[in-house]
Amino acid sequence: MNAYFSALGRDAVIVPCHVAAEDLEEAIMGLRRMRNLDGIIVTVPHKEAVATLCDSLTEEARLVGAVNAIRRHPDGHLKGGQFDGEGFVAGLHKAGHSVAGRRVLMAGAGGAASGIGFALLRHGVAALTIYNRTADRAEALAQRLRDTYPAASISVTGPDPSGHDIVVNATSLGLRQDDPMPIDTQRLVPPMVAAEVVMQPEVTPFLTAAAQRGCATHGGYPMLAEQVALLAQFIAGEAD
Ligand SMILES: NC(=O)c1ccc[n+]([C@@H]2O[C@H](COP(=O)([O-])OP(=O)(O)OC[C@H]3O[C@@H](n4cnc5c(N)ncnc54)[C@H](OP(=O)(O)O)[C@@H]3O)[C@@H](O)[C@H]2O)c1
Repeated sequence: MNAYFSALGRDAVIVPCHVAAEDLEEAIMGLRRMRNLDGIIVTVPHKEAVATLCDSLTEEARLVGAVNAIRRHPDGHLKGGQFDGEGFVAGLHKAGHSVAGRRVLMAGAGGAASGIGFALLRHGVAALTIYNRTADRAEALAQRLRDTYPAASISVTGPDPSGHDIVVNATSLGLRQDDPMPIDTQRLVPPMVAAEVVMQPEVTPFLTAAAQRGCATHGGYPMLAEQVALLAQFIAGEAD
């Protein structure tokens, strides 16, 4: 973000704030009163809790139920926005993988998966299939997506990626070396594209397995990189 501000000649800087979950409300109340604060970028584990502390939400943040950027208006009003899903799709597009008309299997039903699910449907995927360890959470996310996109093909399935064009790991699996695979990687075949949300390590076991089976791979970093401009523009009030 700081490199982005510098490149644009903006008199702005972003600094990290480490806030415990039990202190979040108090921290936000204090930040609300800082007159030289334009906005806040929010990350784990606060994205859902902070949504309830905002005075208003963008449509995307309301649908996803989580906020990753807050714009502070001069009167202290806090507006929450959500850009994870848009960043993910923008990253795929920049890498030459269009999502419109494609069949997508997404592993995960947490915060990141929720944002990605709404963004994939907004960008016109032909079908979205969700697989999650806790099936109830997958069903609940599928129902929220159907409520907004009643004509879309949205289903809940097992870990077999057969029949899909793009397979997304939207779980936190891969952060640790001994994590299980998010889906059945033995059934990945070209020309499937395997895409990640996990950024560390840069090449996860899921991506390694997909590459070994001849599939194209897409790491987790572009999802964040593509959000820099979106977050800065939202906070500056240039975009919703
Ligand atoms: N690249 C980016 O810009 C970006 C942005 C946002 C998030 N992320 C990354 O996305 C990942 C997920 O974040 P989140 O906010 O969605 O977390 P979350 O809300 O806690 O969801 C975690 C997801 O992972 C699944 N999971 C966790 N441990 C599992 C296990 N041992 N076996 C099977 N499934 C497991 C959970 O399944 P259950 O429902 O069964 O628990 C759930 O679907 C994190 O690694 C985060 O760093 C990346």
